[in-house]
Amino acid sequence: MEAIVAVYADWGIGAGGTQPVVVKADRKHFRDVTGAAAVIVGRKTLADFPGGQPLKGRHNIVLSRTCREIPGAEVVRTPEEAMLAGARHERCFVIGGASVYRQMFPYLDRVYVTRLDVCPASDSFFPDLDADPAWECVEQGPRLEEDGVSYRFCTYERRSTGDKRTAEIAD
Ligand SMILES: NC(=O)c1ccc[n+]([C@@H]2O[C@H](COP(=O)([O-])OP(=O)(O)OC[C@H]3O[C@@H](n4cnc5c(N)ncnc54)[C@H](OP(=O)(O)O)[C@@H]3O)[C@@H](O)[C@H]2O)c1
Repeated sequence: MEAIVAVYADWGIGAGGTQPVVVKADRKHFRDVTGAAAVIVGRKTLADFPGGQPLKGRHNIVLSRTCREIPGAEVVRTPEEAMLAGARHERCFVIGGASVYRQMFPYLDRVYVTRLDVCPASDSFFPDLDADPAWECVEQGPRLEEDGVSYRFCTYERRSTGDKRTAEIAD
């Protein structure tokens, strides 16, 4: 399972239910990366989408305990149900918010991270993958800039413990 997230310098991802700083190029990047894949999203993040509507052209899997039905989306009640619903699709991205990233984190093996070089106050965070030895940055794009905000697109992958064991034996 994959995830996509835009993080600030402190791995903050939002405040007051929204993202205080966004760059337009990241929105395009999000569309390009997620393509027609399924997405797993929390009910609060869905509320922050334009018109509070599910994303068009993708199968939206919404985690909620309070909503029974959401037009244009599949509602699931637990992270395990979300996992099973996502597994029916060739690709499925966890797209937030904080509580959903946190609960789906054990299932993730790749995360597309947009690193924004700004640090507005956040009340929601993504786990700091640079500080987690189980993860490595496998791809780092060039530093780009939009409206005075510099950012870069990075890809992180969970280290394969199988590969690590092989490397240790080879040493
Ligand atoms: N920077 C980024 O890339 C990015 C991306 C997405 C979101 N965000 C930010 O993340 C923040 C929102 O995160 P959040 O944690 O407050 O909200 P959230 O994860 O989007 O949604 C939380 C809601 O999801 C449902 N939920 C969560 N866990 C569940 C479970 N185990 N079973 C059933 N339903 C469950 C509940 O809905 P009910 O209340 O209906 O039960 C819960 O209130 C915002 O600031 C947003 O801007 C940032």
